[in-house]
Amino acid sequence: MVMSDEVTVQRVLSGIQPTADSYHLGNYLGAVKQWIDLQNGYDAFYFIPNLHAITVDQDPVELRDRTTAGVAQLLALGIDPEKSTIFVQSQVPQHAELAWVLTCLTGFGEASRMTQFKDKSTKRGADRTSAGLFMYPMLMAADILLYSPQLVPVGEDQRQHLELTRNLAERFNSRFGETFVVPDGFIPEGAAKIYDLQEPTAKMSKSGTNPKGIVNLLDAPKTSAKRIKSAVTDNEGVIRFDRENKPGVSNLLVIQSALTGRPVDEIVADYDAAGAQYGALKTDTAAALEAFTTPLKQRYDEFMADPAELKRILDRGAEKAAAVAEPLVADVYAKMGLLR
Ligand code: AMP
Ligand code: TRP
Repeated sequence: MVMSDEVTVQRVLSGIQPTADSYHLGNYLGAVKQWIDLQNGYDAFYFIPNLHAITVDQDPVELRDRTTAGVAQLLALGIDPEKSTIFVQSQVPQHAELAWVLTCLTGFGEASRMTQFKDKSTKRGADRTSAGLFMYPMLMAADILLYSPQLVPVGEDQRQHLELTRNLAERFNSRFGETFVVPDGFIPEGAAKIYDLQEPTAKMSKSGTNPKGIVNLLDAPKTSAKRIKSAVTDNEGVIRFDRENKPGVSNLLVIQSALTGRPVDEIVADYDAAGAQYGALKTDTAAALEAFTTPLKQRYDEFMADPAELKRILDRGAEKAAAVAEPLVADVYAKMGLLR
């Protein structure tokens, strides 16, 4: 018999919450752009964790709209449903089922140590904190373990949740028998951290205080260009990359580089040779952004104008996801003595 030279394709899984009307440039350059690259070499599963979104108050119409808009943005950005499995969490009931099992395997103290929960619940106060927010990390662990991915690209703030996921996988495996793949978190190569345009030492974030600091992918291209042009820089007047002393200029360089694919060094060298000022840096960065968002918005509008096609994509995604998740949950139930 010929030994198979077939390479097992590794699985990658990630999710992005539908908590704003538009994703911002940080979501794209720091996460989704890498997902798009990864779908070519991996068996990719990408989803909208809408069950996570109800751990805090949500308006039903808004949640529904943002979920659809989230899917349309992922598609418009380049997640290809022919290559990746793209789905909405609430359409695959196994997420909620496995989350309960994992919750019962998690210590109360262990869950109480999750720093994101501690931060959020302290800010909101105990009476305005749902028990769902407390269970959030176990739901996230279920999202991951259902699909046995080797790799889970997440941002720094999700590292502790991923560690919990690994611990739960190992705990289940040792108590009930080998079942879950213990996943690795990783920050993919090329993931850029994008900073607020008005406050360039803070991460660009949907909860940023000044809307002018954020570039929303779905804003009118002119609006975004204006925001780039009014980005905070410094008084030195020299274009060079220096995060510490020149956070605003460095941020613009990173944005331009990520959007054009040209290395920062090369961009800096060209400006240097031309004796360029910040005006040129801003104009070029704004132009690169406009060249990116104009066709993006067009593709997004096309997806939004065809709800039947979106539904087809999501039905197929949910079906493909459930085909992986259901046997896993059945196995877990059987191993735990739960009738199904
Ligand atoms: P969030 O909306 O903060 O939950 O983030 C969703 C995804 O976008 C995560 O993978 C984050 O790591 C990524 N992300 C959010 N903000 C930024 C940023 N300013 N720079 C780079 N990546 C970001
Ligand atoms: N908690 C993640 C965030 O806020 C989103 C998320 C939910 C996720 N489930 C996941 C990310 C599973 C990766 C894998 O960013």
